[in-house]
Amino acid sequence: MAIHGIGMDVVDVARMKKILARDDRLFFRKKIFSPTEIKYCEQSVNSAERYSVRFAAKEACLKAIGDPSLPLNEIIVEKKKTGKPFLVFGGSIQKRVEGYHLHLTLSHTKNYACAVVVMEE
Ligand SMILES: CC(C)(COP(=O)(O)OP(=O)(O)OC[C@H]1O[C@@H](n2cnc3c(N)ncnc32)[C@H](O)[C@@H]1OP(=O)(O)O)[C@@H](O)C(=O)NCCC(=O)NCCS
Repeated sequence: MAIHGIGMDVVDVARMKKILARDDRLFFRKKIFSPTEIKYCEQSVNSAERYSVRFAAKEACLKAIGDPSLPLNEIIVEKKKTGKPFLVFGGSIQKRVEGYHLHLTLSHTKNYACAVVVMEE
């Protein structure tokens, strides 16, 4: 067991709120987030926080893997029954993470959203 990579990211919730407000045709949402993520965020009273923290998770994951060119929409945050979040990956990233275990933790306030990813081999 060894740490292959670690990544963290912080997102300004006010900035995300502005992007979401301009996204009336949902292009941004659909480009970056999965249908499950969109449903979870939209159902929340503080949806900008939820989108922000998921965006942070995707960016933190790029850092842990060490490749900023990977598509964000193929890094997906899902949740266990306990509420604990975990990452699942779309086709083009699957191979990059094969044999690794990725740990994710999230935290958000009305101002900032933060995510940390640890990639373990
Ligand atoms: C789970 C818990 C730690 C979240 O902490 P929080 O300060 O409320 O909220 P944060 O912004 O830091 O974290 C929220 C994120 O934690 C994650 N989370 C939720 N349940 C989790 C769990 N069981 N394990 C790990 N992560 C969890 C989620 O991803 C959530 O974000 P999301 O809903 O957008 O996906 C907290 O709600 C909790 O259950 N604490 C236990 C202690 C307690 O009940 N204290 C209250 C009395 S003092």
